[in-house]
Amino acid sequence: MKLKFLSSIFFALFFCCFALERKVSEASLTVGGQHAELPPRGWNSYDSFSWTISEEEFLQNAEVVSKRLLSSGYQYVVVDYLWFRRRVKGAWADSLGFDVIDEWGRMVPDPERWPSSRGGKGFTEVAKKVHDMGLKFGIHVMRGISTQAVNANTPILNPVKGVAYEESGRVWRAQDIGRREKACAWMKNGFMSVDTNLGAGRAFLRSLYEQYAQWGVDFVKNDCVFGSDFDINEITEVSKVLTELNRPILYSLSPGTGVTLDMAKAVNSLVNLYRLTGDDWDTWGDVASHFDVSRDFASAGMIGAGGLQGKSWPDLDMLPLGWLTDPASNEGPHRSCRLSLDEQKTQMTLWSMAKSPLIYGGDLRKLDETTSSIITNPTLLEINYYSSNNMEFSLINSNNHLKADDLVITRKYGKVKKRSLLYRYILHLTSCEDRSAKGWVSQVVESELDRVCWRWSLGTNKRLLCMDKRKPLLTSDQEMVYKQQYLGKHHLLALDSREFCLDASPKQKLTSQELKGSSFSRCKWDANQMWEFNVNGTLMNSYSRLCATVRAVKGATGSCGVRSWIATGRTGEIYLAFFNLNAATTTISAKISDLDRVLPGRKLKKGSCRCTEVWSAKDYGPVADVISFNVAVHGCALFVLKCA
Ligand SMILES: *[C@@H]1O[C@H](CO)[C@@H](O)[C@H](O)[C@H]1NC(C)=O
Repeated sequence: MKLKFLSSIFFALFFCCFALERKVSEASLTVGGQHAELPPRGWNSYDSFSWTISEEEFLQNAEVVSKRLLSSGYQYVVVDYLWFRRRVKGAWADSLGFDVIDEWGRMVPDPERWPSSRGGKGFTEVAKKVHDMGLKFGIHVMRGISTQAVNANTPILNPVKGVAYEESGRVWRAQDIGRREKACAWMKNGFMSVDTNLGAGRAFLRSLYEQYAQWGVDFVKNDCVFGSDFDINEITEVSKVLTELNRPILYSLSPGTGVTLDMAKAVNSLVNLYRLTGDDWDTWGDVASHFDVSRDFASAGMIGAGGLQGKSWPDLDMLPLGWLTDPASNEGPHRSCRLSLDEQKTQMTLWSMAKSPLIYGGDLRKLDETTSSIITNPTLLEINYYSSNNMEFSLINSNNHLKADDLVITRKYGKVKKRSLLYRYILHLTSCEDRSAKGWVSQVVESELDRVCWRWSLGTNKRLLCMDKRKPLLTSDQEMVYKQQYLGKHHLLALDSREFCLDASPKQKLTSQELKGSSFSRCKWDANQMWEFNVNGTLMNSYSRLCATVRAVKGATGSCGVRSWIATGRTGEIYLAFFNLNAATTTISAKISDLDRVLPGRKLKKGSCRCTEVWSAKDYGPVADVISFNVAVHGCALFVLKCA
């Protein structure tokens, strides 16, 4: 296929024509007592250092944020995961036994990588240096308690009294509160939930967060409590503790694999940021997978909805641009971003139109001018902070006609007719009260064997995704422990391989939980694989207590698509973005006279708008009615319309 790049190959620095008065120092801080009044911005170490970053490297990056990005609102610098893991032979993302913990089973920074933490100082010195640079300091933390602390059976600190936690005349320990059957799905060896029904479980969580506040932490990214690892109890408890601290700390949840609207609505008032997807890396598929989910959350009014002591923001994840490492690597940055320049602009444009937090992920010591100009583009940053009515705009046309080989066909779980080729099926977890979770039917196949299937559609007999229902087989003494707990629960076996069971947790941080091989894993005794079939046609997972639903999605991410987003600016301007998800240049068009159909209270007359395109910095003057643009492969166009 011949690919033509019609939109700008040469990136021109474009300075916005609007006078932007941005008081950065106040921007994403607490404004008028409100937390996260605007979507937070900053830098996070994960995309460039994985878990291996040192104090020196971290402070060097913070220095660049302060010198080059702070004036654009980038303010939070966040150490991502495993800052407490010793970087020695045998240690990696899911190793066990290499962590530095204190006498109360709490994580402390690895003194080799974080020398200023020696002598029990934790992150105090680092936070102080970060604050002196005019920045805010953040850390990543895992769910609950570490397996290492549970194995060591450390006592729990009573954070009020500063001594061991006693209740009912005894000291409580890590093994009393750790729930081994609720291990973090993507870091099975590392961390598990704590039982928040126990006073000792709640005291442990409080002892962690009070320490973070003492260190001077301003932002906590809590991992493995959301999405398919949903732990509403921990989120609720942590949120409560944060409210009671003297220090304002932003609360962020990650990752967001398999997130549903119900799940987000259950947490948004408790937090300030929550991820909508699994980890975003520098592949086109990852960028493209954010269009549907950000549309759904925008249309549900979740952008800037109420949050912990302020607002909350659906988070599309870091911007993996510039100088990077690889997912879960043991190495620091060693390669360049693999997204094309057009793809990078598409990412920045969608993130801005969806008002996502903007957290840069590349190693800033190698920040080049091109990347810097993408992430500091004044118009994009203006949209990200101050635009309103942000939504997907569907009244667009394109010259792209579908070709057979553009289509993604899901044949594996049923006969798919040619007419249905544009659908693919995605398994989601949702609240069991959600009516869309009712669609599972049970049928007897043989005397001993039941099969559970997702109904194709109401009133038809067709079945989609059938699985055999089987009582989980017990294989060892240890598993006997769970026998009572999972009475009446089933394994759901893949029909083509009885070794594999439907699993609600991805083993890695996948972008979306699609109905494909990755939803099945080798059958084992794991709450994620235990399902309960209810007579009302719902199928409940024992781990998350959420129900499975199957949604047919039109089109396929990354193919046959063009998208558009619209928003309005502070001074009445209209922002219109075109996105080309095709692997060929596509002409996308929209009519000015259609825009006011979605913008409340606006009446736009033909010929009344002047138009500029942001990325090419071109002024098109007055437009008659139709805006039409040849958009490059995976590229975008962003128009600013000033209408009389
Ligand atoms: C289906 O039944 C379960 C178990 O009784 C219940 O928790 C759930 O709310 C019901 N869901 C719907 C949609 O009726």
